[in-house]
Parts: sequence; C-alpha cells; structure tokens
Amino acid sequence: MASIRLARPASSFCSRLIPSASRPLSTSAVLRASTSPTTESSSSDSAKKLKPLTQEQRDYLSSALRVNQAGELAATLIYSAQSPLIVRKHPHLRPLMAHMYDQEAAHFSTFNNLIHKHRVRPTALYPLWSVLASGLGWSTAIMGREAAMACTEAVETEIGNHYNEQIRSILEMIAEWEAQGYDVSGEIKQLVDTLRRIRDEELEHLDHAVENDARKAEPHWLLTNVIRAGCRGAIWEYVGETKLK
Ligand SMILES: [Fe+2]
Ligand SMILES: [Fe+2]
Repeated sequence: MASIRLARPASSFCSRLIPSASRPLSTSAVLRASTSPTTESSSSDSAKKLKPLTQEQRDYLSSALRVNQAGELAATLIYSAQSPLIVRKHPHLRPLMAHMYDQEAAHFSTFNNLIHKHRVRPTALYPLWSVLASGLGWSTAIMGREAAMACTEAVETEIGNHYNEQIRSILEMIAEWEAQGYDVSGEIKQLVDTLRRIRDEELEHLDHAVENDARKAEPHWLLTNVIRAGCRGAIWEYVGETKLK
C-alpha cells in the first residue's frame, strides 16, 4: 500500500510525555505494564526546540492512525452484529455489550477526528472490513455466548499488542529526540495518552470476555487462533511496510 504523508507541519506532531495513572492488576496487566513511560521531561525543558518529523516518522504516524481507525470501525461492527443475538438469549449481558460497544464507538470517533485533523486518507477497504467484521460478529454470536466472548478475547489480545507496539515505537522516537536535546510537543504527548487510554479499554474488554467464559468456547484454541491470525493479517496490510526502524 502506498504510504501517505501527514499534511500538517511536521513540528505539530510532537509533545512531552506524561505518566499514565496506575491501574489494578488484571489478566492483561502485563500487556499494559510493558509500555510504561520510560521518560519524563522537566519544566526546565520547555525552552528546547522541537525536531521536525522525518518522512519515515510521518509515514509511520499516518499509517498508525489509518489502521487504528479501520480497526475501531471493525470493532463497532463486530459488537453491532453480536449484541442483538447475544442479548436476546442472555439479557443479563445487555449492559456489558452496550458498554463495550459504546467504548468502541468512542474509539472510532477519536480516530475519525485524528485522521481528519491530520488529513490522513482513511482506508480504501471500508466495504471489505465492514463485511468481514459484521460476518465475524454474527457468526460467533450464532455459535453462542462463549464463542462471541472468545472472539472478543482474540481480537482484543491482538489489538492490545498492536497498540502496545505503537506506544513503544512512539516512546522510542521521543527518547531519541530527548537524547538529542530536543523537546517533545503537545500532539505527540496527546497521542501517546490517547493510545494508552484506548489500549487499557481494549484490555478491559479482554478481561470481560475471559470473565464471561470465553475459554469455554468449543473449539476455543481453533477459534481464537483463526481470529487472531486474521487480525494480524489485517494489521499487516496497513503497517507492514511503514514500521519505524
Ligand atoms: Fe476499540
Ligand atoms: Fe475493544
């Protein structure tokens, strides 16, 4: 896929890093902890200059926003397809399904706003992802509550890893700037915070799925591995050639 440039001035996509709030340990705590902040600027850094993004960094950030927006679209469609079937048979799951859908819709809106703000072209594969995501949601819901939860477990495991990789890459970029004596500006700081918050919410969905018998799905191993491979393939389609070296 051709790489897309951020149209805004390169220096606008930078910021200082702040630590995220600590959270209680859970099934996914290790994933969360793996991208804990490693650097923090002091107020004395405020006079430092910002370093313009390289073309490689602009391409990376553009593809990151694009794949995140496409992924969150898919998430809303999976929950939209699953919810009616699951809630009809298991009314007690209505609040949980609604809660997870609402968070996915908010994530989608966040990345819609970001790709609009930075003039990043959205995915051209909307129709394909829409059909695949709705089909995945519907088919796992037909298989039952456990399979639907196994779908969430698989998707959120991959998405949690995906967001962690993005956070790690951006933190490495920030550490490099700081080592070179540059400051890090507000937009990168905000992006890291946004990615951390969304990553944490995805991993909460993973915990909810496990608590609701995802691992009792039959056959759990096959179902989750097929879905996880599909997620990795979809992510690779977007970011495979634009990783930061
Ligand atoms: Fe999401
Ligand atoms: Fe999610």
